[in-house]
Amino acid sequence: MDIKDLFGYQGKNVVISGAASGMARSACELLLELGANVYAVDINPIDLPVKSSFLKDLSKKEDIEQLATELPAEIDALFLCHGIAYFPGKELHVQKVNFYGQKYLTELLLDRIKEHGSITYISSVGGFGWQEVYKEAVELINIKSWDDAMTWYENHPQLISNAYVFAKQCLEAYVTYKCMSEEFINKKIRLNAINPGDTITGLTEDFNRSTSPTGDVEEGEEIINNIFLKSWCGYPAKPEEMGYPLVVIGSNICSYMSGQLIYIDYGLTSSWLSKSLLNDEPKTITEISQETKDN
Ligand SMILES: NC(=O)c1ccc[n+]([C@@H]2O[C@H](COP(=O)([O-])OP(=O)(O)OC[C@H]3O[C@@H](n4cnc5c(N)ncnc54)[C@H](O)[C@@H]3O)[C@@H](O)[C@H]2O)c1
Repeated sequence: MDIKDLFGYQGKNVVISGAASGMARSACELLLELGANVYAVDINPIDLPVKSSFLKDLSKKEDIEQLATELPAEIDALFLCHGIAYFPGKELHVQKVNFYGQKYLTELLLDRIKEHGSITYISSVGGFGWQEVYKEAVELINIKSWDDAMTWYENHPQLISNAYVFAKQCLEAYVTYKCMSEEFINKKIRLNAINPGDTITGLTEDFNRSTSPTGDVEEGEEIINNIFLKSWCGYPAKPEEMGYPLVVIGSNICSYMSGQLIYIDYGLTSSWLSKSLLNDEPKTITEISQETKDN
């Protein structure tokens, strides 16, 4: 058995965002090794030998629409991986980058995704507890126009004040809500997301700074360690520990897998779920992080 045939990427058109750094860069390296025609997008330059690279700001409607005109007519696999941390005042920007722009690009490209194609996102353990905002997220998901979505956000300041978490929760709601909807299932397009735990990437410093109430990187790192690593004497992941599984999920190896939110966190969120089921302990990431900070 040829391992590359098993993946099924040889000569296939694969589009991947966020490929200049971190998890998506690792995924991109593996996709190239597996013989894919890689079309990579980022706001920063991409230094890998891809078929084409595109310098775009995926928070901007115009850039997303322009990108859609430049991508190939047929796409076998789409990976949307770009993302940013949240800083005060950037609530709406985070929604555009981490969720709405991703939904918008997905739906612009949908006609071009081939039968039995795959779409895979990078969400986060930060979206844990997505069920609690599901109805609001679905309301937003059903808004087709960019401008109407921006109005919806303006009318829901409370939800987007939890900026990074809410954007990731929307992404997870999207996978759950859309996996069996006509426009995806009629063409048997698979829709999944990975939910990484703490991983050392280009975002690490921003996550640390934004987690500290005073913007102190070391203090933020300690808070993050307390939430994600302390309970299991754990360690952060390497980018390829997320990027490689991502490539597997989008490949023919996972040809019957759709609608899944795959936590890659060494079991941390399963332990949170277990505790909440047994003891009625906090269920959302916001409550868990608040508790951790309080202790
Ligand atoms: N690092 C972690 O601990 C962690 C944990 C959970 C989830 N995530 C998620 O993983 C994904 C990948 O991030 P990473 O950790 O590899 O970080 P990273 O910073 O190394 O990679 C993110 C990439 O997204 C690009 N990007 C950011 N804004 C963009 C925009 N407006 N338009 C186009 N590209 C843009 C960046 O330039 C960068 O190359 C993100 O969605 C992030 O939210 C990260």
